[in-house]
Amino acid sequence: MAQSTKNEVKQLINGIKASDGDGVQLTRLIGNAELMQLDPFLLFDAFGSDQPQDYIGGFPPHPHRGFETVTYMLAGKMRHQDSVGNSGVITKDGVQWMTAGKGIIHSEMPEQEQGLLAGFQLWVNLPAKDKMTAPKYQEHSEDNIPQETREFSTVKVIAGVTKQGTTGIIDNKTTAPLYWDIKLNKQQNFSDVIPSTHNGFIYVINGELIVGEQQTKVAKGQIATLTTGKMFTVNATQDSRFLLIAGKPLNEPVERAGPFVMNTRKEIEQAFADYQHGVLA
Ligand code: CO
Repeated sequence: MAQSTKNEVKQLINGIKASDGDGVQLTRLIGNAELMQLDPFLLFDAFGSDQPQDYIGGFPPHPHRGFETVTYMLAGKMRHQDSVGNSGVITKDGVQWMTAGKGIIHSEMPEQEQGLLAGFQLWVNLPAKDKMTAPKYQEHSEDNIPQETREFSTVKVIAGVTKQGTTGIIDNKTTAPLYWDIKLNKQQNFSDVIPSTHNGFIYVINGELIVGEQQTKVAKGQIATLTTGKMFTVNATQDSRFLLIAGKPLNEPVERAGPFVMNTRKEIEQAFADYQHGVLA
C-alpha cells in the first residue's frame, strides 16, 4: 500500500473516567494505560458537568515540577493561586499556559457553585535543560486569542501557526506546539498542515469527524492520535467542534510520579524531598 500523504488516525481513545483533586470528575484521555504519553504530551483530561458535586471540590494546593500545564476553559471559571503570590481567573474560552519549571504549589478552584463547568487540562513535558527553569505564566482571555475565519470554519489559534499565517498567542519554542480550537460546519472540510516533526491528536468536543483518506470516524469525546502526513484533512458529518493539538517530541527518558515529571528516579526523589522541606517553590 502506498503511504498516504495525509495524516491518518493511528489510535482511537475513549479515555477512562477518573477523579482528581478533591473529587473532580473527569475523563483522562492521555496519561493512562491506553496511552501513557504522546511525547511531549503527558496527560490530557476533559472535564465537564453542570452538577456541582462533580467539580466543586476543585484542586486544592498541590505541587508541579518539570513540565507545563495548559488549562483551557469552555464554560465556567477557574481561579488559580500559587505559593509565590500569583493568582487569576481563567474564564470561558480563556487559556492558561503555566510553565511549572523547578516548581510551584498552586490551587485551581471553580469560581462558581452552580452551572456548567467544562474545560481541559493538558500537560506538556519540558526537556531536561528546562525542567528547573523559573516558573512562568502565559494567561489570556478569549479576546486575546487570534481567530481565523474561513468559509466553513473558524480556528482559534492558541498556539502554533496556520497555513494562512495566523499565529497563536502562546510563545513556546521548546515543543513548538499547535493548540487550535476549530469549529467546522456540517458536510464541510477543514485542512491544514501539522509539522512533520510533531506528534498530534484531535479531540472531538461536539459533532463527529471523518479523518484522512482512510475516512476514520472520530466521535464526540474521543481522541484520535495521528500519523505523520503532509496534510491534515477532516470532514464533519454534523456541525462540529474539535481541538487539534500537536508538539515536537523530546525523545528523552520520562520518570513520573504524581505531580512531578523528571528524567530520572533520583530527580523524582529530589522533588518529593524538596516539597517535604518546603523548598520546592
Ligand atoms: Co495543577
